[in-house]
Amino acid sequence: MQLKDSLAGAIARLSSENVPSPRLNAELLLMFTLGSDRAYLFAHPERVLTADEQSRYDAALAQRSRGVPAQYITGHQEFWGMDLIVSPAVLIPRPETEHVIETVLELQASDSRPQTPDARNAEVRGPRSEVRLVDVGTGSGCIALALVKELPTAEIHATDISPAALEIARANAARYQLEKRIHFHNSDLLEGLPGRFDMIVSNPPYVGESEEDTVQLEVRKFEPRTAVFAGPAGTEVIERLIPQARAALRSGGWLVMEISGTIAEKTKKLLEGWEDVEIKPDLQSIPRVVQARRPKT
Ligand SMILES: C[S@@+](CC[C@H](N)C(=O)[O-])C[C@H]1O[C@@H](n2cnc3c(N)ncnc32)[C@H](O)[C@@H]1O
Repeated sequence: MQLKDSLAGAIARLSSENVPSPRLNAELLLMFTLGSDRAYLFAHPERVLTADEQSRYDAALAQRSRGVPAQYITGHQEFWGMDLIVSPAVLIPRPETEHVIETVLELQASDSRPQTPDARNAEVRGPRSEVRLVDVGTGSGCIALALVKELPTAEIHATDISPAALEIARANAARYQLEKRIHFHNSDLLEGLPGRFDMIVSNPPYVGESEEDTVQLEVRKFEPRTAVFAGPAGTEVIERLIPQARAALRSGGWLVMEISGTIAEKTKKLLEGWEDVEIKPDLQSIPRVVQARRPKT
């Protein structure tokens, strides 16, 4: 069968199975099957697929029709300009998590820029090169890797409770020759991590089991439960992380977390006593990133 007919058939199949964005998915899976880019699909509409290619394409389409996310079929997801490996052991990195990176970089830039001669000597500030930070619940390693890229002299740690997730994070670090730049820890939140941090960053599980019905079926069925659900209310992991972060941060250090609109108010309450608490929205105006500073006393 010619490429263009195979693609048309795939779009029709995915549409009839109610897969969202059927054209995009059909093209993506064909690129994956042929190991090509999108330009190739349009440059070679009459190229005949071999029997093996057609059968691999059919298998990928069958998985997608069952609801398996395209990223778990192709094994890849783009984040912060990097092509990351993903498997069902890790959450698929989301574009909104890039707001976490932007927030960290803004805070980092303002913290390392002396405002006045006094501030230049302030005991709580360290120069940029001394920054020590940790990504809690690293999953694919997307946050830690983006920060390693952006903060080349920082000391970066990454934790996850899932050994399988850490394996993927390590593989992603190796893919970019950055494995020596990240200290990986198989730990429950910050347990056992030595020393004080300038920044604690996390996209923790924050969905409540009570709101499970509102979560996309693909997420519920295929993404790791421990990555998505925190407990009945959704704040259970954050409730444990906030006091641990307070103990592990240096005075004046920042906690930056991804959250959802559902838990925004509760998160603010949990951060009572912290300084400069701010919740920033994502592009859909949903409260998405909370930043808070450990009091300087
Ligand atoms: C929402 S996912 C975030 C993954 C990745 N950081 C991202 O932004 O795509 C949450 C991650 O936290 C991990 N996790 C859940 N509970 C944890 C805990 N108590 N301690 C450490 N990691 C935990 C999960 O295994 C999962 O990888």
